[in-house]
Order: sequence, then C-alpha cells, then structure tokens
Amino acid sequence: MSCRIRILCENSAGSIAGTLGEHGFAALVQTGDHALLFDTGGGQTLLGNAQRMNIDLRSVEQVVLSHGHYDHAGGLWPLLQSTGPKRILAHPGIFTRRYVLREGQARSVGIPYSEEFLVGMGASFSYSDAFREVMPGVYLTGEVPRLTAFEEGDAGLFCDFSGCQRDRIPDDQSLVIVTGKGLLLLLGCCHAGVVNTLELAREKTGVGEVYGVVGGCHLAFSPQAQIDATMKALKKFGVRKICAGHCTGFHAAARLAAEFPGGFKPMQVGYVLEVE
Ligand SMILES: [Fe+2]
Ligand SMILES: [Fe+2]
Repeated sequence: MSCRIRILCENSAGSIAGTLGEHGFAALVQTGDHALLFDTGGGQTLLGNAQRMNIDLRSVEQVVLSHGHYDHAGGLWPLLQSTGPKRILAHPGIFTRRYVLREGQARSVGIPYSEEFLVGMGASFSYSDAFREVMPGVYLTGEVPRLTAFEEGDAGLFCDFSGCQRDRIPDDQSLVIVTGKGLLLLLGCCHAGVVNTLELAREKTGVGEVYGVVGGCHLAFSPQAQIDATMKALKKFGVRKICAGHCTGFHAAARLAAEFPGGFKPMQVGYVLEVE
C-alpha cells in the first residue's frame, strides 16, 4: 500500500512560496483513495498553507487529534468553518485543563475551544483510548503505556495554574502506518515518549521493522540521558528515515542529524514523504 505524508503546519516553513510557520503541527496522510488530517496546527496557518500547497481540505474524511494542546487542535475552528462537518478521532481526555510553567511563568496550553462549541461547528467526536484502525493499514495507538525508565515526560506541564499537579498527557497518541518497508510513525508531540510509542506500535501490529518516524519528538526539555537512550533505541530498531521538528528541539534534532546521516531531514511546512 502506498502512503504519502505532507506537512501542513510546522514551526518552520520550507520553500513553497507563501506558506507560513507557526508553533504547531498538522500533516495530511493519504493512502489509496483515503485522506485524513493528523492534527490541525495552532489555527493561524492551516487554511493558508493548504491553499498554497493545492490541498483541498474538503477531501479529508476525518481528523485525528494527537492530544489536547492548542498547537495541535487550534486549527479545528477554522477547519470546520471552511469545510463543514468532520468526524474527529481523539482520546477522551483531550479537553483537560492544562498549563505550561517555565521560568516562573504559567500559560494555558489546552484546547482553546469547548467541546460544545466545536460540536456546534459540526465536529462529531469519536473517543477511544484503545489501539484502532482508522484507514486501511493506518492505526491510532490509543493511550501509550509509559514503560521505559528514561522517558519521564515534560516536567513543566501541569493540570493546574499553580503547578501542583503534573500533566503526563495521557491522551497523547500517534499514528502507525504499515508500509511494505516496515512501520512508519507519525507523531504529534509524542509526550508518551518515542520509544514507548514505537514499542507499542511493534507489539500491536506484529511488525518488528521500523522504517521511519515523522513529527515532533518532544525532546526539547529532556535531560541528556533521555536523548542518548532515545538515539540508541532508534538505532536498535533500524530506523531509516527521520523527519523531526516542532517540539524535538534544536539540540536533539542536531544529534539525530549526526546519528542518522542521509536518513534525517529537519521538518518544514511542505515536506513530503512517500512510501510504496
Ligand atoms: Fe506540540
Ligand atoms: Fe504537546
């Protein structure tokens, strides 16, 4: 089965004239006659970038949300406004209140709309925390068990403004595409940890080979030991293609570029990966 991933929203824009970057992530996934949108960016760039990339978002049959952060779900309103009703697949915990606390400053980072508002705009939510097939050969991980000792999550994320209750983002999930070359993973922020997510994908699909990883690896705030262990695991899995950006962080992205010469690409709006 051939599969094509196109990056629609990302922190950095590429060479397609008129496309813009914003802190966020969205990708179009096409297999055969099917198309889904994985995340929607922060809301500032989805529609404009799609137009510049000649993508008609009305052809998208369903939207998958990787988790309930504003930079992945903020594009839902403009999307629904422009295309009409959409089916949205997500974990039941996406509307949790959430905050980031860094250097003494707290910011709200949850979904900037209520569920009721989005339903009124034409969203029909399909909630599940289980591994499920969303298109032929394309699966959503559901909630990812946190098994590795080194993937501790981002210590700056909380469910309350005062920073008392850690937010481990249980709703974080990724897309798993079974290709002829092995598994291809599409990550939103991957708050669950790249290695935890890869282990679950291998176990649930029964496919051991991992061809590629595309998306945000959330290593920007991770200790060096986590970056080291993640590199080691990606090499052990034999990953051949890595396109990382968004919340991967400069340091981890530079390390990936050095560890996977020829296989690494920095993610930008307009990046395309096609696998037969
Ligand atoms: Fe993010
Ligand atoms: Fe996130």
